[in-house]
Amino acid sequence: MTEQTPVTETTAKAVPVLPDAQTVTEVKHYTDSLFSFRVTRPASLRFRSGEFVMIGLMGDPDPKTGKQRPLLRAYSIASPSWDEEMEFYSIKVQDGPLTSKLQHVKAGDQIILKPKPVGTLVHDALLPGKRLYFFSTGTGFAPFASLLREPQTYEDYDEIIITHTCREVAELTYGRDLIEGLKTDELLNEVIGEGFWKKIKYYPTTTREESPKMGRITTLIENGELFADLGVPAMDPATDRAMVCGSLAFNLDIKELLEKAGLNEGANSEPGEFVIEKAFVG
Ligand code: A2P
Repeated sequence: MTEQTPVTETTAKAVPVLPDAQTVTEVKHYTDSLFSFRVTRPASLRFRSGEFVMIGLMGDPDPKTGKQRPLLRAYSIASPSWDEEMEFYSIKVQDGPLTSKLQHVKAGDQIILKPKPVGTLVHDALLPGKRLYFFSTGTGFAPFASLLREPQTYEDYDEIIITHTCREVAELTYGRDLIEGLKTDELLNEVIGEGFWKKIKYYPTTTREESPKMGRITTLIENGELFADLGVPAMDPATDRAMVCGSLAFNLDIKELLEKAGLNEGANSEPGEFVIEKAFVG
């Protein structure tokens, strides 16, 4: 005998209401290990471009109690503070507790988003300067995707240098598309000023696959190639500021180079010449 379930009950089970739920509006996959997605923004959520929030999904039910707990990770907000939606850029780890599931989200699905933004990759944590460097590896590009769409970046600096180092060429796609898109973005050209994107110098490099520019950015700083290629002077604490986002090892290596050049690390409470944040992995 087949048991008949009332339609209303089935519907209720299929769409559970999550705490702090937001709805996915768009998903883009770049490689086997990289994707981005956009979600609705809580009406009351204010954040500064470059900050991060905790996002996630409900975990698997506990085998004993059947209870589900939220599975949350820190994610840099890749969209700017003025955007009506929120964007995130993520890796896919096949056995990662969160990203093994998160990579399957589709438009219309719900995710959890804790509306408590924090972070140090913000303009407030830097002293005034002329040239702003964004140094990133892998998904560490995310906070810079926000800051590259933030008007203050162009109001505060004459020149913005964004370096992005990945193992393979395809891993550069998200960043490259975003920067290319700035040129024709009507809203940004109007809000920030026609041709604002000319202040950007984009410097993508790969380390494992052949591309026009190869090498770790740390090596290219040390041997001076970065500055020679871009036609800018070596880093100077009087004019240059930097934000860094990558793996822990990358951050430590860049920090050493920045300190060698005479730049001091800043924080929200005490602005300085550079700030660092770990790119979060799932
Ligand atoms: P490499 O291929 O030489 O390790 P990952 O995927 O391991 O996070 O690395 C992302 C990119 O960052 C890779 O191109 C990698 O280069 C580079 N990278 C990793 N660690 C460092 C570091 N300590 N200094 C500079 N670049 C790094």
